[in-house]
Amino acid sequence: MATIGLIGAGHIGSQIARLAVAQGYDVVISNSRGPETLSDLVRELGPKARAGTVLDAAKAGDIVVVTIPLKNIGAVPVAPLAGKVVVDTNNYYPQRDGRIPELDNESTTTSELLQAHLPASRVVKAFNHIYAAELTTHGQPAGSTNRRALVIAGNDAEAKKAVARLLDQFGFDAVDAGPLKEGWRIQRDTPGYGPRRNAEELTRDLAAARRYADQ
Ligand SMILES: NC(=O)c1ccc[n+]([C@@H]2O[C@H](COP(=O)([O-])OP(=O)(O)OC[C@H]3O[C@@H](n4cnc5c(N)ncnc54)[C@H](OP(=O)(O)O)[C@@H]3O)[C@@H](O)[C@H]2O)c1
Repeated sequence: MATIGLIGAGHIGSQIARLAVAQGYDVVISNSRGPETLSDLVRELGPKARAGTVLDAAKAGDIVVVTIPLKNIGAVPVAPLAGKVVVDTNNYYPQRDGRIPELDNESTTTSELLQAHLPASRVVKAFNHIYAAELTTHGQPAGSTNRRALVIAGNDAEAKKAVARLLDQFGFDAVDAGPLKEGWRIQRDTPGYGPRRNAEELTRDLAAARRYADQ
């Protein structure tokens, strides 16, 4: 079974770790303060999980999830993530991240910023529009009526397939928004950002999304 590396072990990172361990993955979690600060979470997660440095998580993960404040993505190690599927959960909140002009003028998107930082990685946007707590409460088996869906976006079809498979194991359908540059359709203040949606509703929400300048 594959290993999932987590860069960030806060609200979203800890929840993804719980889902991954429940599905039999090995998990390496990391944060900015060091592995010793993650002992409670590792104890809770059990023998499939260990804490490491950010570098450990990046090296160990077959799939690596970056789930830290957007302003810190420059600290994500580049070389160990080359060739890997990197899942990006991040959103832009200027009050937390400071102003990022190329996001304010919508000439790029959050996940394209991470892709630019990790040019040899296969970045897939996912998990950015669901509240952390709902990750472990809204999942349902494949084929359930009205199953909740989550958006993926990415430039690499195989990487998207891998993340769609992960979502399915975690209890969610996947709706493909297209390449990373379409990720704005699920950024904050769009119709699909936050509420529980099935695949059909979420597809409609993506189509109804408007650029900030047009809102
Ligand atoms: N909360 C939600 O419901 C939610 C939903 C969807 C998407 N998101 C997005 O997902 C991302 C993570 O959100 P969150 O709510 O999980 O954040 P959070 O609870 O504040 O946790 C952030 C985590 O990132 C770690 N971190 C910060 N800087 C780091 C660095 N340079 N290297 C390694 N780890 C670092 C922190 O470690 P330390 O504590 O050691 O600093 C912490 O473990 C954000 O971009 C957020 O907008 C959040």
